[in-house]
Amino acid sequence: MAEKKTPHATGSTTMHGAPAVSDRNSLTVGPDGPIVLHDSHLVETHQQFNRMNIPERRPHAKGSGAFGEFEVTEDVSAYTKALLFQPGAKTEMLARFSTVAGELGSPDTWRDVRGFSLKFYTDEGNYDLVGNNTPVFFVRDPMKFTHFIRSQKRLPDSGLRDGEMQWDFWANNPETAHQVTYLMGPRGLPRTWREMNGYGSHTYMWVNASGEKFWVKYHFISQQGVHNFTNDEAERMAGKNADFHRQDLFEAIKRGEFPKWDLYVQVMPYEEAKTYRYNPFDLTKTWSQKDYPRIKVGTMTLNRNPENHFAQIEQAAFSPAATVPGIGLSPDRMLLGRAFAYHDAARYRIGTNFAQLPVNRPKNEVHSYNFDGQMNYHHTGTRRQYVPNSFGDSWSDETGPTDTSWESDGELVRVAQTLRADDDDFGQARILLREVFSDDERAEFVKTVAGALAGVGEPVLGKALEYWRNVDEQIAGRIEDQLKADAGENTPGA
Ligand code: HEM
Repeated sequence: MAEKKTPHATGSTTMHGAPAVSDRNSLTVGPDGPIVLHDSHLVETHQQFNRMNIPERRPHAKGSGAFGEFEVTEDVSAYTKALLFQPGAKTEMLARFSTVAGELGSPDTWRDVRGFSLKFYTDEGNYDLVGNNTPVFFVRDPMKFTHFIRSQKRLPDSGLRDGEMQWDFWANNPETAHQVTYLMGPRGLPRTWREMNGYGSHTYMWVNASGEKFWVKYHFISQQGVHNFTNDEAERMAGKNADFHRQDLFEAIKRGEFPKWDLYVQVMPYEEAKTYRYNPFDLTKTWSQKDYPRIKVGTMTLNRNPENHFAQIEQAAFSPAATVPGIGLSPDRMLLGRAFAYHDAARYRIGTNFAQLPVNRPKNEVHSYNFDGQMNYHHTGTRRQYVPNSFGDSWSDETGPTDTSWESDGELVRVAQTLRADDDDFGQARILLREVFSDDERAEFVKTVAGALAGVGEPVLGKALEYWRNVDEQIAGRIEDQLKADAGENTPGA
């Protein structure tokens, strides 16, 4: 008979708190006999293991983040009454950075837009700002979003990613040109998450204590500066360390090197939106900084690593619908589409009561009449489950226009968002390419686009070249020359 050992006082337990007895040997009929089904510790160990994964985020699966604080250093109370933006306010927060297209284990340094998600735990509820490291996006209607993401993911038969599918989507949707220029430019390969800027991208509404409304765009400017990898550096790093960005952030914070971003906003008075030369709610456009200069608000510092990646990062749920008093959405139809999508995704990905998890729970008390469901543990005792009631349990009954409203009237229609005099799909992409990129960056851009077009056949290739001709004839010519040169290099025997 094997020697019987009693569990150590500090030994492990079952999930129900009883001593686990052995984490090494299953219970068997004699030393060489079969395992018995009532070894519930063994059975439970495998049951839990089989359920360890939750679905990954459909876009933005690979990422990581850290906790920190946002401190207001200026006075922007003329524009918003939001508590987190009042002079001197300090608010605890969480940031998560990510790639868009890659899956959970994909390399951090593949060329992509980077997610820049923030959750502020304010005294009036959680405020989520779910942005990217670029100030614009590929499309301007949420109907196109799912098609866009699928075109960046994998082919149905081979399960491979496919350049032709990506360019087919872009070339058939010319409003993507501005964002694709960013993506193929230096910002498509940030060296670290610490060295990239973040943008709210959409136009949001701010409202002050007197009820005055403003349109705002958020810019988080890295105090570490903006530094990017070249194609070669990024490719080498993808092979060497797929988790390079995750590791860099974690280790910097562990060393006490806390990354910081200064928040600036562009503020547009409410009425000016009606006549601005660009449609200010078109997500494929930026607002000129000459027209609306950046105003500083404060500084965000990340200073605390997660203690458990799964509980605090993987299970974190961000949504543009999580706004707080003083902040509203805008007529940007992408933003309105997103307001539905995220909490719905969280209910599927994490579970009905995702909002009760410590990382997602607001620090103020929740008195919601949405309750019960799987994994519910937060309850409000014997409070009435209905309103109105005769017993004084809370309810809300505001009527009339909300303070973050805007006027809107008309027939229900299916038409593209109205564009203004200066709105065209290629103009701002051209400015970015000609006036913002340096000569070296333009040269690298030509190589990147040609590399990404390698293997793309007709009719997609012709459409993609036409797309670049619409942005800039000369650059399109250089891309064609580079494609020919690359094809020559790849010809056997050349
Ligand atoms: C993640 C939908 C546009 C930034 C996600 C997720 C969904 C989604 C379903 C996964 C959420 C989860 O599983 O928790 C959409 C839809 C869009 C849209 C329907 C357009 C109609 C955008 C835009 C931006 C953006 C324009 C940036 C300006 C992000 C970020 C994440 C994300 C940063 C990762 C969130 C995290 O860190 O957990 N999106 N998205 N998305 N999206 Fe979007």
